[in-house]
Amino acid sequence: MTGADPAAGIPRLEDLAETVELRGARVLVRTDFNVPLDDGEISDDLRIRAALPTLQWLLEQGAQPVCASHLGRPEGRPDDRFSMAPVRLRLEELVPGVELMENLRFHAGEVANDASFVDRLVDDVDAYVNDAFGASHRAHASIVGPPARLPSAMGRLLAREVEVLLGLRDSPRAPFVAVLGGAKVSDKLGVIEALLGRVDALVVGGGMCFTFLAAQGHGVGDSICERDQIDTCRRLLDGDKPIHLPSDLVGVDASGGRASFGADVPDGAKGFDIGPGTAAAFADVVLEARTVFWNGPMGMFEDEQFAAGTRTVAQAVADTKGFTVVGGGDSAAALAQFGLADDVDHVSTGGGASLELLEHGDLPGLEALRKGLA
Ligand code: 3PG
Repeated sequence: MTGADPAAGIPRLEDLAETVELRGARVLVRTDFNVPLDDGEISDDLRIRAALPTLQWLLEQGAQPVCASHLGRPEGRPDDRFSMAPVRLRLEELVPGVELMENLRFHAGEVANDASFVDRLVDDVDAYVNDAFGASHRAHASIVGPPARLPSAMGRLLAREVEVLLGLRDSPRAPFVAVLGGAKVSDKLGVIEALLGRVDALVVGGGMCFTFLAAQGHGVGDSICERDQIDTCRRLLDGDKPIHLPSDLVGVDASGGRASFGADVPDGAKGFDIGPGTAAAFADVVLEARTVFWNGPMGMFEDEQFAAGTRTVAQAVADTKGFTVVGGGDSAAALAQFGLADDVDHVSTGGGASLELLEHGDLPGLEALRKGLA
């Protein structure tokens, strides 16, 4: 990948070491340890493991890392369901000697970006590192506050995410193909418009394909469909970039039995996955690409009956010779479920953050680090 350094102007860990004596320093590290929990157990610790290079580096310098993260969406007061205790245990197993504060969102000042909450965060620490890529699209206190108060830097994970995602956005090798899924077009409209200016082709599956299919005049039955977005989808389809849509689908018929359809879903029926013909066609587009960005499953992959489309596309993303980046959230979970997580070039730890970075080319957390101690 070529092009200017996308993270130019943002201090890195080595720059921090030149400004602050790290031996003996307490370093506040904003991490995104917002991990999925199943009955209080961490079901995927990718976000914790992804922060290890930064934490290990700080420990090697003789610094004391003090991690701070949110977990879930508690409403500004302590809530046992969102305690950091399981994360603290896992962190201690992976990298002993690191401190972890209680859930930042137990304090209303975090989301409100309250100056007095920033005061509390920076009290008794000597430096700040942002390694929370997945939360850097939030202008919350722990993301945008400390860089104006303390010598600061981006951690290894944040630097790698920015390098990969902005490299993909600004200097992809052609053909560049984006594969998008997920339920709602409205959630991804901004990034779809931004990507259409950069990709050679867009592939659309998942729940959002029904709004596009409806825009082409197909019947969608009772499938998820955003009627108020149909005109927008029609405009996007009329643009100059090819948008690949399903030509066959799998779902349930009006009596609730599993059924296959063409591009039209009959009244009373629902589509839950792309069909085998579509999956093979999407896989061919991915296999021809030199750069692939995938965000959003092709169907309800959590249910084995409707997992085949997502599995075929995931396998193509794993097999293609192109440079492959998978956005966080559900697509990362699908890759892990199919045992393919090690076969792509980069699995982003940020769902919303990766889409916002692709759309805008910047994030509040990066801006704050760039401004620094203004
Ligand atoms: C995420 O899971 O995408 C990040 O941790 C951000 O979480 P939030 O959407 O609750 O801000």
